[in-house]
Amino acid sequence: MRIIKIINGLLVNEGNITKQDILVKNDRIVKIGNSIKFSGESKVIDASGKIIFPGLIDDQVHFREPGLTNKATIKSESKAALAGGITSFLEMPNTNPQTITIANWEEKNKLASKTSFANYSFMFGGTNDNLDQILALDNKRVPALKLFLGSSTGNMLIDDPEVLKEIFRSTKLVIAVHCEDEQTIKNNLKIAKEKYGDKIPVDQHPVIRDENACYLSSSRAVALAKETGARLHVFHLSTAKEISLFQNNMPLNEKKITAEVCIHHLWFNDLDYKKKGTLIKWNPSIKSKKDQEALWDGLNNDFLDVLATDHAPHTINEKLNDYNKSPSGGPLVQHALPALLTAYHKGLVSLEKIVEKACHNPAILFDIKDRGYIKEGYFADLVFIDIDKEYKITKNDLLYKCGWSPFEGTKFKGKIEKTILNGTLVYDKGKINSKSAAKELTFNR
Ligand code: DOR
Repeated sequence: MRIIKIINGLLVNEGNITKQDILVKNDRIVKIGNSIKFSGESKVIDASGKIIFPGLIDDQVHFREPGLTNKATIKSESKAALAGGITSFLEMPNTNPQTITIANWEEKNKLASKTSFANYSFMFGGTNDNLDQILALDNKRVPALKLFLGSSTGNMLIDDPEVLKEIFRSTKLVIAVHCEDEQTIKNNLKIAKEKYGDKIPVDQHPVIRDENACYLSSSRAVALAKETGARLHVFHLSTAKEISLFQNNMPLNEKKITAEVCIHHLWFNDLDYKKKGTLIKWNPSIKSKKDQEALWDGLNNDFLDVLATDHAPHTINEKLNDYNKSPSGGPLVQHALPALLTAYHKGLVSLEKIVEKACHNPAILFDIKDRGYIKEGYFADLVFIDIDKEYKITKNDLLYKCGWSPFEGTKFKGKIEKTILNGTLVYDKGKINSKSAAKELTFNR
């Protein structure tokens, strides 16, 4: 039996910060308390002066396997996730082949069982013609459906209104959506091309993929969910206007329509295009300072339920193309929590709120079994944080296969020191354990 006693840590959990010890037996937390008595042999980790979070659950990552392994692999990005305190991830279907048949979903899962270093599960992609597959899914193993209601990397646009309605009506799974209205984007792009020809400046990205594109699409999705009773989760909100579509007057487990915000929309605003260029080209686009402030506000006031990354790596050569050819997306899993800790030091968010939105809420929303909390009986997925440590992000520290980060040169305050996954110390002061301790996520359904 493997026993670890973690002593003197400051635990952030369920709205409280308390100094308590944790006893871990094999992969689970068995006791939390002060001065836990345990007479057998155990490894002791002294967490004096450290903050301990439950491992983060990132419900939106693109790890690019199968098929796009020049950008990333499940192995490389899941290691980067562990270094970033993310112990579990839900991965997106826009790989090659796309995850739109049960056979492809099984293949991806099998691949992860061999190569992932963090706990994994894979969303299933809905298209204009795979309703039969959606209805045949094992809802106990598939975390959610992902629908691209606006096109992005991977050509997965679903735009047949009848099919959409049928999916919304018939699935019991959470429907996670990317919302941007295609026609609005096309019209705006045409205007930009007329004005700038082939040399569209990147700061036009939020003019092309604008607030209206987001609002039109997300308001339509919300209306359809209300009409059909579907369980809708709107990914990566980027505008102040969309926040009015969501509610903050009920607990998460009673909500049928929820929303999420990603780290890049909280950290950057449109003034940053000047310095970062296409490195911060994302879909939906980074918008104004006013939108950025509204997103923090929406998060702190519970209109937005989940904090995620939308980690979406591309090679640096792809990214450094001109605006039109540069793909949207960038790597984030290693730096999302450090960015949030830095935001905490700036007074933008509390530690308890980070834990609620990045650990507890994804577990509630997707019914993830025994994770997302520091709780007796739960899996021991834990992150140790040196909260006052200041440091600068350099290329050398990056674990992403693509080898770049929009945060290179950024100074953060709050460093991840260790990560424990399923009771195993898997990351310690910059080093990843060479053996994986990852498991497939399971669901309370
Ligand atoms: O910027 C983005 N990149 N947004 C998405 O929705 C997809 C992602 C990707 O896969 O590259």
